[in-house]
Amino acid sequence: MSVLKSVPKKLFVKTWGCQMNVYDSERMADAMGASGYETTDRADEADMILLNTCHIREKASEKMYSELGRLKEHKIARPDVKIGVAGCVAQAEGEEIIRRQPMVDVVVGPQAYHRLPDMVARSGNGTKVVDTEFPEEDKFTRLPRGPKARRAPAAFLTVQEGCDKFCAFCVVPYTRGAEVSRPVDRIIAEARDLVERGVVELTLLGQNVNAYHGVGAHGEAATLAQLLRELAKIEGLERLRYTTSHPNDMGDDLIAVHAELEKVMPYLHLPVQSGSDKILKAMNRRHTAESYLKLIERIRAARPDIALSGDFIVGFPGETDADFADTMALVEAVGYGSAFSFKYSARPGTPAAGRALVDDDVAHARLLTLQAKITEDQFAFQTSMIGRTLPILVEKVGRNAGQVIGKSPYLHAVHFEAPADSVGKILQAEIIASERNSLTGHAV
Ligand code: SAH
Ligand code: SF4
Ligand code: F3S
Repeated sequence: MSVLKSVPKKLFVKTWGCQMNVYDSERMADAMGASGYETTDRADEADMILLNTCHIREKASEKMYSELGRLKEHKIARPDVKIGVAGCVAQAEGEEIIRRQPMVDVVVGPQAYHRLPDMVARSGNGTKVVDTEFPEEDKFTRLPRGPKARRAPAAFLTVQEGCDKFCAFCVVPYTRGAEVSRPVDRIIAEARDLVERGVVELTLLGQNVNAYHGVGAHGEAATLAQLLRELAKIEGLERLRYTTSHPNDMGDDLIAVHAELEKVMPYLHLPVQSGSDKILKAMNRRHTAESYLKLIERIRAARPDIALSGDFIVGFPGETDADFADTMALVEAVGYGSAFSFKYSARPGTPAAGRALVDDDVAHARLLTLQAKITEDQFAFQTSMIGRTLPILVEKVGRNAGQVIGKSPYLHAVHFEAPADSVGKILQAEIIASERNSLTGHAV
């Protein structure tokens, strides 16, 4: 008697955008796994192609359409292959995506991912399925996790999603919706599950993570500080990080956690966007350059060695040379360990969308000036690690035999010699050299 075994279908996922998209892609792949799909890293052998997209800047959105263009021949050759678009472009454009690219079968917004397997099953043969609703149910509770497979030592875990801040340039409040926090017990359960799979370091994610206010053990709203204290109790979970924070939600209890909990790493991403109060006001940021600098002082008082990171937008409508000089002065005053900077991109539907643009050459020149300064500071900070002995979380084996690559508390990549079975362990290494984007050390 022969039993026909069903051959698993293959899923190819491509992810753009922020860490939350990386986390979401993983959860979607797990959910599709429960419906008989296994992941592949080759688009040409896939039965289903899922593009998880980002809408933050114009260039980010365009990437999806270029990718769809490239996939066209594949779809013509194999019309049974299903193509899905997820993420923030899916939320922002919805059915419009299918109008522009009729080969797309499924469009799913970030709050409807738990419905994806069913949507995929219903699609095909010309049937298109679009879901960009914001349902009340907790999608993550309804997204099955995959089998208990061993995984990389560092993982992301979304604890909060959405944003109520409405910065004038930003699409996130529209694509991710209003701020929602997951309950503490669900987060703890997921963290424990990840630790059982070999995770040692967790980065808690949220568009506004420090505004976290999930339901706690006794029905009260817990703060991020309280959540971190609970997570720190989990044995085997050695390192905690969180991102991204808004300056206005950086409360005293959260600052205190950086002094109190050894497991909370001395690194904080705290975007400021501009150093000019006039521009901050036009951006609807609701803080000033001075209040931001005072906040940094308080954070450094609690944790003197903390590495700060930030985001900047140059060329926001109305930005003059003097405003830009204020941004450069703020960067100098803070001394960032790392920072990200972007040229303003007008986004449809946001308050700033119709405002007069800064001349593109001027904006571009400012971006180069700012990036040169940031690169210099970043390198100086990285180089200051030479001679120090740091605990390094070994994440993978290196390209050269006997070498491993790990991460320092300050998020620097560190190469050093150690046995391959040290992946997942925290080893002490003395830093001996600083390369362009990484450090070299030797185990002590
Ligand atoms: N939730 C995070 C950031 C989300 S987007 C926060 O509040 O900090 C990541 C970064 O992209 C932002 O910090 C900002 O610097 C940049 N960004 C957002 N919208 C942009 C736009 N329209 N043009 C250029 N950069 C933008
Ligand atoms: Fe966007 Fe501002 Fe919300 Fe960050 S705080 S996600 S920049 S609206
Ligand atoms: Fe992009 Fe959406 Fe993240 S717009 S940055 S993928 S929240």
